[in-house]
This record gives sequence, C-alpha cells and structure tokens, in this order.
Amino acid sequence: MSTSADPIARAMAVLAHDGNHAYDAVVPPIAQTSLFTFGSYAEMEETYRGQKVRPTYTRGFNPTVRLFEEKVAALEYGEDAIGFASGMAAISSAVLAFVQPGDRIVCVEHVYPDAYRLFETYLRRMSVTVDYVDGRDLDAVRRALPGARLFYMESPTSWLMHVHDVAALARIARDNGAISIIDNSWASPIFQQPLTQGVDLVVHSASKYIGGHSDVVAGVVIGSKQLVGEIRSRTYPYLGGKLSPFDAWLLLRGLRTLPFRMKAHEAAALHVARKLAERPDVVTVHHPGLGNALPGGLQGTSGLFSFEFDDSVDIPKFADALRFFKLGVSWGGHESLVVPAQVVRVQAAGPNSAIDFGVSERVVRLHVGLEGQDALVADLSQAIKEAKMS
Ligand SMILES: Cc1ncc(COP(=O)(O)O)c(C=O)c1O
Repeated sequence: MSTSADPIARAMAVLAHDGNHAYDAVVPPIAQTSLFTFGSYAEMEETYRGQKVRPTYTRGFNPTVRLFEEKVAALEYGEDAIGFASGMAAISSAVLAFVQPGDRIVCVEHVYPDAYRLFETYLRRMSVTVDYVDGRDLDAVRRALPGARLFYMESPTSWLMHVHDVAALARIARDNGAISIIDNSWASPIFQQPLTQGVDLVVHSASKYIGGHSDVVAGVVIGSKQLVGEIRSRTYPYLGGKLSPFDAWLLLRGLRTLPFRMKAHEAAALHVARKLAERPDVVTVHHPGLGNALPGGLQGTSGLFSFEFDDSVDIPKFADALRFFKLGVSWGGHESLVVPAQVVRVQAAGPNSAIDFGVSERVVRLHVGLEGQDALVADLSQAIKEAKMS
C-alpha cells in the first residue's frame, strides 16, 4: 500500500470539512442520545434482520461516534474502526476477541504497563500465556512466534522508546499465522500508519494525541472490515466499553488540529532532547529522532521521550523544582509533563500489579508540550541546578 510523502498534507485532506452534517452545521452535532426509535414495525424488522443499517442504541451505533471512527480509519488507511471508552478498553476488546484458553501471545518488551498487567493477570487466569521478546531482535521473534495466536507490539515503546521494524515484524507474524496488533499511540496516525506495513490491527489510546487536550479518555481500534467486524461481534457489545457521543465529539475536534500539533510537539521535543543530550549529567537520551534517519516505519516523532540522569541529580528534587513540566502520567496534551520511573516502580511493587516493568530508576520521562521550547529548556536547566546533589 502506498502512502503520501507529506503526512501533514494528506491528513489535512482526510480531515477537511465534508459539509455533510445535519442543519449544514460546520461542526458535526453531538447525537447525545441513548436510543433511536423506528417509524414503523417494518423498519424495525428490516434493521434487526441486518437489511438496513441505522442507529438503534448508542452502545452499538451512534452517528457522532461513527463519524470519529470513519475519520480515524481513513487516517490509518483502515477499512473500519471502533471507538472505545478508553485505550485499555480498545486493547482488551481487541486482544480478547482473538484468544481463548490455551492460546499463546508473543509480546515485545516494555509495553504500556497496564497492557502488561492485563496480560499477566486477567489473561493468565484465562490460561492464555504471554512470552516477551526483544522486538528489535527479529531472530528472537522468529523463534518465539511459531504456534502463537497473536503478536502484540508498540513502536516506539512508551518508556524506553524502543523502535521496531514494524514491517518485518508484521511479516513474521503473518508467516506464522498470528494476528498482529500494534499500539500506535506514540506516533499517532500522522507519523505512522502500521496497516500500510502489514500489521493487522492498530490500537490507540485516543486520550493522548488524538484527543490532544487532556480532557477525554478514549480508545480506538482500526483494521480490515473482517477483523474489526470480529471485534464488533465477539467482544465490543458484551464488554461494553463504548465511546460516548460527547467524547467522540471532543475527539473529532482534536483531530482537526492533530497534524499541526504533532509537528509542534516534534520540533519542541527534538530541541529539548538535543539540549539534554549535551549535558554531562545526562547519561542517555531515549528519543528515536536523534539519529541520522528515522527508524522503523516512522515519518516523524512525537513529544514523548525519556532520558537517564547520572548519580549527581536528586530526581525527586528535580521533579519538584520544575515549573512548566507538571508531575503527571498520560501525555499528548498541550502541557509538558514529567514522570520519574522510580515512582512507577513503587506502583509496580504494589498490590495491583504483577510487574517490575524493567526500567531503571534513573530514567525520567518527559512529555514536551506546546509552551515554547526555550522556556522548557530553561525550566529543565534551573531544576537540574536545584537538584544537584552536593
Ligand atoms: C502507550 C499507551 N497505550 C495505551 C494506554 C491506555 O490508554 P487509556 O489510558 O486511554 O486507557 C496508555 C495510557 O497511558 C498508553 O500510554
């Protein structure tokens, strides 16, 4: 499948005003209703027989949600999509649609911690096992895949930013008869379209860049009509994690500026990452854009990356001294955020978790927002100065 050379222009064409909304509204109205009634028994029967497609009940089909699904499907070069109440609802509904007791999943290392916990707790109770491999090692993946039902990946991963050769991994999964799923939240549909590289299903936490304003929790799954149809019939109606019409409307609003926000996050994060890489107290910067060429199938980079301090910096002090970067998980909104890995390790050791998620406690993750790159670099410098251990 060929993709456009300019991802921004292509996305803007997909997102352009289509002029088809009720009342000629320039913004799609919110169909804020739980149910839709029928004009006659005959119409109701026709709908229930599947001869007519129209909304009946919002858990199944809502026009505002559908519009969002169609826009994201087009951005990802997919045939169909389903919106969900969260990224985790999208991930769990997609995975659970295709596994049954006795099945095995192969997963790349360092995936989003709650996806990992889903695999290590709920799926284990279902007698589904998960083997973790370094997805950058194609031979290790080749060795692990025979007999697996599903291959799950993120690229880049959202803590150490491991970039995978998405096309090669999708091919290995397909050669072994496994369905491949990728979490594409980091790159967004603007900077990576994994379906064009042979991946079967794409999931997003739409709470991140797609929403883009830190005011909605949502998810989406995109793929072929057949595979999305299987999720729609096997798990989506019964697990019930549906996207609400109002949240779909917020996401449609977010999509309109997604290409430009991604360009702005990319430029600012690269600037901040380069400045950090120059510092003697920063041991490593995990950012996929610092090499000569973009790895994997990436067409650009986002605002999320991490780095490792040497022992001279007191990380809690550094986090407290920051002014623009707020302490907080999630990412993808206008605001800059910081999360020290050591605090996630504390959570990982708690009762609700099966993991040590394998990231060094000297790692700090940043989300670079839209406050202005020079102000952000200055903020980091003053906080590091404040946090130097004497
Ligand atoms: C990479 C990644 N995938 C999935 C999720 C889960 O999404 P949600 O919080 O919308 O359920 C997150 C949330 O932080 C994430 O960072």
